[in-house]
Parts: sequence; structure tokens; C-alpha cells
Amino acid sequence: MELILTSLVSLLLLWFITRIFLKSSTKKNLPPSPSKLPIIGNLHQLTSHPHRGLHSLAQKHGPLMLLHFGSVPVLVVSSADTAREIMITHHTNFANRPLFKAMKKLFYDCKDVTFTPYSEYWRQMRSIFVLQMLSNKRVRYFGRVREEEAALLVKRIEGCVAASAPVDLRRLIAETNGQVIFRSSFGGRYGETENGKKLLRLIRVSIGLLGEIHIGDFIPWLGWIGRVNGFDKRLDTTAKEMDQVLESVIQERQETGQDRDGEDDFLDILLQIYNQDVSIGRDSIKALLLDVFVGGTDSISTSLEWTMSELLRQPRVMEKLQSEVRGIVKQKQRITKDDLEKMGYMKAVIKENMRLHPPFPLSPRIASKDVQIKGYDIAAGTMAMVSMWAIGRELISWDEPDKFMPERFLNSSVDFKGQDYELIPFGTGRRACPGIGYATASMELVLANLMQKFDWKLPNGILPKHLDMTESSGITVHKALPLLALASRAQ
Ligand code: HEM
Repeated sequence: MELILTSLVSLLLLWFITRIFLKSSTKKNLPPSPSKLPIIGNLHQLTSHPHRGLHSLAQKHGPLMLLHFGSVPVLVVSSADTAREIMITHHTNFANRPLFKAMKKLFYDCKDVTFTPYSEYWRQMRSIFVLQMLSNKRVRYFGRVREEEAALLVKRIEGCVAASAPVDLRRLIAETNGQVIFRSSFGGRYGETENGKKLLRLIRVSIGLLGEIHIGDFIPWLGWIGRVNGFDKRLDTTAKEMDQVLESVIQERQETGQDRDGEDDFLDILLQIYNQDVSIGRDSIKALLLDVFVGGTDSISTSLEWTMSELLRQPRVMEKLQSEVRGIVKQKQRITKDDLEKMGYMKAVIKENMRLHPPFPLSPRIASKDVQIKGYDIAAGTMAMVSMWAIGRELISWDEPDKFMPERFLNSSVDFKGQDYELIPFGTGRRACPGIGYATASMELVLANLMQKFDWKLPNGILPKHLDMTESSGITVHKALPLLALASRAQ
């Protein structure tokens, strides 16, 4: 008996010593962390505006801060310098995005560009985007579509002027941009058909679902909650309905043939590739179209709504912009690409808006392997959340960062194309947004038309400084309340 007891005690001792030894020899240098709760970790600190909640935590803990969302370690990256480490220096290690249930379900098991893992398939899909769908040539080619839709927008605003009614800028801008995206994708006036309206609704629902936190993504054993609270069902229904709409458009195009009006839209391009390359399946085509809709609809219209809100809050900036636009375009009806090129102040206004209101404030990536960043040990499987929102407010890069001051860009070469890490609303590195040229062209033309043709003020005697700028929650951050404004014909 004594022998058994002694052996047991020795074994226990050995176990303790080994544990202590192992612990000290593998002791990691982890980034600073706020304390966390059992099971949920720091999920409770996300708040309804995660970019703001994470920013205030990072102000206490630093630009590399380690949190835990359930069982997932999350590295919050809040400075230009640390973002460069993740997205450029260690880009191959952080080239993947975390794959959540909604992404897999809606994007055909991630056969799109945005969510598909970094691989040969990604390279192939991305090159379709960069070289064929969103090349400079193609962006120029859609100029006519942009111009026609901008002219219609002007007409609709003139209708409000004639009726002395406030302009619902959110709705009109979203419909204009939706039409441009649909016409670039499918040609014709698809957005006005029953299917087009249904697709627009499904895109909105999908964006909402992508922005919802599904607890099972972070605490896998609680995945059943999605079945109980209806998340799984909404996901299934949306994916199914979306597939039906996309299938019907594709089938119709296959029946009527490509190139009907001699102009290739995105669907024509994708179907040509589908017919030539057997390795690209039908789901890939549908997933790529979804990338265009989800990436391009909300982001562009939200940015324009924020820009108009900032301009209405600062009449001095608005007047300066109007005088630049009117000085260049004069009384011409049509604003050309050459006109837009000359509008330096407008480009500064757009950059300043993107700095303060990046439509996607957080960009998530995932570490494939263990890695050291700035002396900290980051484990494989850690999700890196790059906060474009916080980076746009870093004191080291920006004077008075909370002020809307387009002048800061006038004598500066800083741009948002991914080379200047202090301004990365479109991301940077290999997985940066391929839609910058398309988005910029759309935003510039709409804004120039609004500035050339109309004078603007807030309705109901609201003073500029009282305009409500509260943000909504979700993956795209909107103004919580739609922007209404009174327009009058420019004198
Ligand atoms: C104001 C407009 C837009 C903004 C602010 C924006 C922003 C972004 C951001 C932040 C990313 C992630 C970048 C990263 O991880 O480094 C991204 C990726 C992407 N965007 Fe955009 N985007 C916009 C418009 C568009 C448009 C118009 C399209 C297509 C028509 C588009 C298609 C994509 C795609 C396909 C990706 C994934 C790229 C990849 O993972 O390789 N975006 N965008």
C-alpha cells in the first residue's frame, strides 16, 4: 500500500514539474489584452458599433491588442504601421479571411473572390475581376451607363424641386448606384424588372446576414442557437431565393445569346469564360456576380450619403466644391471624364470622407501559421481585424482627426489606392479591393452632378451643426437616419 502511495505521489509530482517546465519553456509573448469572461471571452465588449468599441479598447491597450471572441483569438490592428505588418510584410500568412457560416452559405461555399482561400483558384478568379471586369478600359466603357443614370438622378431631383419636396438622398443615390451596378452586370434596365427588385432586396438581406454575429462561428458548440433563433432558416431561404434569381438571369442570357447589343456586360464576360474553361463551374459565375453586388452596391451609396452629409454640415466646404465644379463644367449639361480629372478639391473631399467614414470599417484576415509581429507571438488561427476606421483617426498621421477637412489632401500625395497605409478604406496588399477605379468613377460623377446643378440645404430649419450623424451597425456602416435635403436649381 505504502509503495503504491509513494508511486502515485511521485507520478503527480512529475506531472506538475513537467507542466511547469513546459509552460515556462513555451511561454509566449502575447499582445496586451483586456480581461475576458469565461466562454464568451470579449464578445460582450463588441458593442453595437464594433469599430468604435474596439477603438476605445485599443486606446488603452495599444495598436496590437489580443481579444477572444468565444474560442477564437482576435488580434485588433489599429495603426498604419501594424496594418502594414499584417497586410504587406506578412501578407502570405494573413492572405485568408475567416470563413463564417453566412459567407459559406451565401457565396456557394466561398467560390467567389472575396472569401475564397488564397490559392490558385483565388488567383484565377481575381484575375477575371482585375483584367476583365474592372480594368480601366472596362470602367471607361461603363461611362455611358454612369452618365445616363446620373442624368436620371438629376431629373428626379428636379421633380422634387418643382414639388418643393425634400430629396430623399439615401433612396435616390442607392437607386442610381444600384442601376449602374445592375446595368454593368446584366445590361438593360434590369433593376426595374420584378426580378431586379427582388435581387436588390436579397442583396440587402444578404449584407444584413453577413453583418450579424452568429455565436456558432465563435463558440462552435453553441452552433445550435442558429437553428433556434431563425438565423439558419433566414440564411437558407435567402441563399435559395438568390440562387433562383441568378439562375433565371443566366438561363435567359444563355437562351437569348450573348452580346445582344454589341456591348459586353459582366454576365457576358463571365459566360464567355464559363463556356471556354471547363474548370470554372456555374456556382463560380454566380458567386462572382454576388461579389459585385455585395461589394459594390452599399459601399458606394453609403459613401456618397456620408459625403453629402458632411457637405451639408459644412456649407463653406460645399460652396468651395460647388465653385470648383461649376468653374470647370460651366453650363454644360454633360460632365466629362476630363472635367472630373481637373477637380482636385472634389478628389480631396472624397478622400476625406473615406478617411472618416470607411464603408467597411474593419477588414478581417486569419493567420495561417504561427508568426511574430512586433515581438509578439501570434498563433495560427488568430483572426486579425484591421481597423481602417481607427487608422483614419491616428494622431500620428492626422491633425485634428475628427474634423472633416478636405484641405489636408490638397498639398499631399496621400491616396487610398493601397500605397499609403494611413488611408486604406479599400484595404491594401494582395487582397485589396479590385473595385477602386469603378467605385471612384461612380462617386465622382454623381457628386459632381449634385454640386453643379443644385444648391442644397437641410430641411425643416435644421442647423448644419445639428444634423444627426449617428451610425448604423452592420458590415457596412451607414448613417442611422436617411439623409433628407432641400435642393434648388443652381443660380
Ligand atoms: C466605396 C466602394 C468600396 C469600398 C470602400 C470597398 C472596400 C473593400 C475592402 C476594404 C476590401 C477588403 C480589402 C482587404 O482585405 O485588404 C474589399 C475587397 C473587395 N472588393 Fe471592394 N470596396 C468598394 C467597392 C467595390 C466594388 C465596386 C467592387 C466590384 C464591383 C468591389 C469588389 C471587391 C472584391 C471582389 C473584393 C475582394 C478582393 C480579394 O479578396 O481578393 N468592391 N473592398
